[in-house]
Amino acid sequence: MAIPRETVEQILQAAHIEEVVGEFVTLKKRGSNLWGNCPFHNEKTPSFSVNPARNIFKCFGCGKAGDSAKFLMEHEHFTYPEALRYLAKKYNIKIEEKQQTPEEIMQQSIREKMFNINEFADKYFVDTLWNTDEGKTIGLEYFRERGYFDPIIEKFHLGYSPAKWDAFTTHAKQNGYADELLEQIGFSIKGQKGLYDRYHGRVMFPIHNLTGRVIGFGGRILTNDKKSPKYQNSPESEIYDKKQTLYGIYFAKNAIARQDECILVEGYFDVLRMHQIGIENVVASSGTSLTMEQIRLVKRYTKNITMLYDGDAAGQHAALRGTDMILSEGMNVRVVLLPPEHDPDTFGKEFSVEYVSNYLKENAKDFIRFKTELLLKDAENDPVKRGQVIRDIVESISVIPDSIFRITYVKECSRLLDMPEQTLTNELNKILRAKLKKTLGIEDNVAPETDTTTSPKQEETVEDQLPAGYYQERELVKLLLMYGGELFVDDRKDENGEIVYEQVSVAQYIIDELKQDGFLFTNVVNRKIFDIFDHALDEGRIPNDQFFVSHEDETIAERAADLLSTPYKLDQWEKYSIFVKREENMLRSVVKSSVARYREIIVDDRCKAIEEELKTTEDLDDQFILLKRKKDLDDMRKQINDELGIVITK
Ligand code: GTP
Ligand code: MN
Repeated sequence: MAIPRETVEQILQAAHIEEVVGEFVTLKKRGSNLWGNCPFHNEKTPSFSVNPARNIFKCFGCGKAGDSAKFLMEHEHFTYPEALRYLAKKYNIKIEEKQQTPEEIMQQSIREKMFNINEFADKYFVDTLWNTDEGKTIGLEYFRERGYFDPIIEKFHLGYSPAKWDAFTTHAKQNGYADELLEQIGFSIKGQKGLYDRYHGRVMFPIHNLTGRVIGFGGRILTNDKKSPKYQNSPESEIYDKKQTLYGIYFAKNAIARQDECILVEGYFDVLRMHQIGIENVVASSGTSLTMEQIRLVKRYTKNITMLYDGDAAGQHAALRGTDMILSEGMNVRVVLLPPEHDPDTFGKEFSVEYVSNYLKENAKDFIRFKTELLLKDAENDPVKRGQVIRDIVESISVIPDSIFRITYVKECSRLLDMPEQTLTNELNKILRAKLKKTLGIEDNVAPETDTTTSPKQEETVEDQLPAGYYQERELVKLLLMYGGELFVDDRKDENGEIVYEQVSVAQYIIDELKQDGFLFTNVVNRKIFDIFDHALDEGRIPNDQFFVSHEDETIAERAADLLSTPYKLDQWEKYSIFVKREENMLRSVVKSSVARYREIIVDDRCKAIEEELKTTEDLDDQFILLKRKKDLDDMRKQINDELGIVITK
């Protein structure tokens, strides 16, 4: 349901950034800003700032910046509407959600309906588990029998679905849920005698998304009926994409970020057990083999994954499949194998938390050691197989995006395999070159990876490659954002050389001056901001900083937040701005000199380009045109110099 535009504005205005951020980050006041350790990257000294006056945050370490909604989207992984709803709740703002007519319920998006019925089912299964005889004696008893305590059963909303064939289906239908929806989302299956329950007689695991809403279920059978699968899971739907889902992520995400590590297990019960013994940074891939999407989900919180798999052959090979995928995302992966008779659930049940934690610490193997040992065991003294193992391991190393890490792994591998580093490097380069060729053949916009063993030196020349006027352009955008609506008295000469005085806004002055020369910003985002001002001025409006900081175009919002909180400059400007209020002369000279400097640089740049072109132009007519253009630019430069002189000496 869309939130009305006015309400959005009302919410964003009511939200105090320091209060919103303050719930997640400890902030201390220093100067006009508040500071804390950035929640988005690891750091020991605070570079994360909150500016209450402008209602924005910015981290000078990792560059993240924005308003309250943006913070929640980054930190809590909310969608934009979710962030707004959160803020509305926090600040007691009512989002108009009218009493729904039956028609509106019909039209309500299918996703909402699905979330809705899942919530309904979740309540039902939990209620059945705790409050019915069948639920208590069969379902609850099953969990307790396996050694689970009530708090964990409650926390994960474990439930029970009665053995009667259509108990839930009937209950749902009585509450107005349509057959079609029940089938679509998977609670009911059409049989010869009508709809029956997919999960009848099973204990239930709701599956939550990042924000804690139920998107699907898994149900475990309690009998030894070999005809039915051990687990029944919801089919995929508009709200349940198995590739993108990890069981337990909602309960684990904070612990994962805090500990900068994610432990990956295979089953529902493995997650429960780890939580019960106090290890909370655990998620399960739940039956599907690990996907890239799941890995990226984890990557939002940490770059370190530890795979905790069964010690049997199946577990080992499942782990092996996962490692390359994790490596190719540039993440670090370690593997812990349990004794063959255990899975994390039974292991955690049998041993104390200290023992388990220690076991994890001592047995976590870097993937390269894991893979080498595992594969070499099979190869033993067979030189042909050994060659294959080496190629296989080097293949794994080749998927790592970072060349420095690749080199580290080659060294480690050379030690483990007792092979010269150079041999491995050659092998690695062969693979990389083949991959590069393939990549270039298929896609042409992928930046080719250069050689692997020498680190590329691209960083050094970045400054030189910036377009002319890069910093001046940013300065002007900053002036627009900070002082666009402020007025000053401009003095300019009219055609007769008479000085006329005219009151203009900062925005009007900057936009007019630049348009007059056709010097529109070169950076795409700056240009968008320019156009917004230009358009608004035509309508007699001047948008303020909050308008940009909360802009729906994220690139604009980000740029605004970034520019509005540049560190040293901001402090300087803020000092000025108090000054400016009383003494607009200051503002006038800052604005005019910034515009003049920008024009000067652009003019210089164009002159240089023309001089270059002249060197290679033979045709006299062309030369003439170029010279004429150069003369215009020279005139312009003179005029700018005059202006700069005036502005500066005044
Ligand atoms: P327990 O055997 O009760 O300890 O459950 P578990 O969670 O340890 O299951 P197991 O290790 O056998 O399997 C790991 C995961 O694979 C489970 O948690 C399920 O998500 C999934 N899975 C297992 N068996 C089935 C099945 O028969 N069908 C489906 N769809 N998924 C299954
Ligand atoms: Mn198990």
